[in-house]
Amino acid sequence: MSSIEILGTGFVRAQKKISNQDLEKRVDTSDEWIVQRTGISSRYVSETENTSDLACQASLQAIEDAKIQKEDIEVIIVATMTPDCMTPSTACLVQAKLGLNDCPVFAFDINGACSGFLYAFQIASDLLNRYQHILVIGSETISKMIDWNDRSTCVLFGDGAGAMVLGRGQTKLYHYANSEGDVEDVLKAQGLPLVKDLQNNEATTHYLNMKGNDVFRFAVRVLKESIENVLEQSHLTMDDIDLVIPHQANYRIISHVAKKMKVDLSKFYMNLQEFGNTSAASIPIAYAMAQREGKIPANGRVILVGFGAGLTYGATLIDN
Ligand code: ACO
Repeated sequence: MSSIEILGTGFVRAQKKISNQDLEKRVDTSDEWIVQRTGISSRYVSETENTSDLACQASLQAIEDAKIQKEDIEVIIVATMTPDCMTPSTACLVQAKLGLNDCPVFAFDINGACSGFLYAFQIASDLLNRYQHILVIGSETISKMIDWNDRSTCVLFGDGAGAMVLGRGQTKLYHYANSEGDVEDVLKAQGLPLVKDLQNNEATTHYLNMKGNDVFRFAVRVLKESIENVLEQSHLTMDDIDLVIPHQANYRIISHVAKKMKVDLSKFYMNLQEFGNTSAASIPIAYAMAQREGKIPANGRVILVGFGAGLTYGATLIDN
């Protein structure tokens, strides 16, 4: 268990809104299919902004919300699987874009796919033993690894960023994190093309490939497991929890979890209708929105829970 305070939050949408009707013109799909199978109606796609730009915009909001100076930030952690480049890290680019080059900043990225923000948040809470103000960001331009001719993936994802400023405080955290690396082929993007594909002009290995049904079953199992783990650690029950903020992948995944846990679906926050799945950005965007909508009571208890490629998963119970 560790203790912190979430001092400020921020989130941004990428520039271009793409509706299901827009996608109908591009691939063999329909608004009806997408809404019924996923709950998603639109998503935002970046046209000119890189992952670091979105991260920087969300961070400026979070810093303002925290009522601190940006120079107070000592650590920047960016969770992303779509960095601007292999190196420097997106966190270093954010440091530069925030104008913090002359400040001592411990800056690094982590790649936990859609669980990335949860992993980063957990690392950040431990680092508060050494630092006073930590900027944790989930930011993605996942559209650049989407094959826009593949209807099974292009309808699901969107771009965006969410950020939090963490400081020392009295909020108790209970963490759980896990991964199952032996099933990596169910959700994979190679990144750099293979040499043979480059030679044959078939460099498509950076596209996200997914066995949707396998991911679905995995997601329902591990979301439940992760929530139950943090409840057990904290000796609390779902009746004590005000809001669950799950990774925003699919309405049906979340409703299956609610049903299996015999919890009213209204306890699970969702904005996937508007955003789709923004990978590592989904949980911090959802947290910031829920807070602005007054859905997180000052002394409330919230569970963040997610899953992603790796396969990775985990949860954090925030006990204010
Ligand atoms: N429009 C119309 N039809 C479609 C579409 C589409 N966009 N996509 C697939 N179909 C078709 C399929 O081809 C299939 O047709 P067939 O029956 O003729 O073969 C039919 O719809 C059913 O396909 P399923 O894959 O069985 O559909 P399902 O109900 O399982 O929904 C989905 C697919 C939405 C992908 C679901 O499995 C899912 O959400 N899985 C989890 C995915 C996920 O969360 N991924 C992100 C992980 S996080 C990260 O780290 C990136």
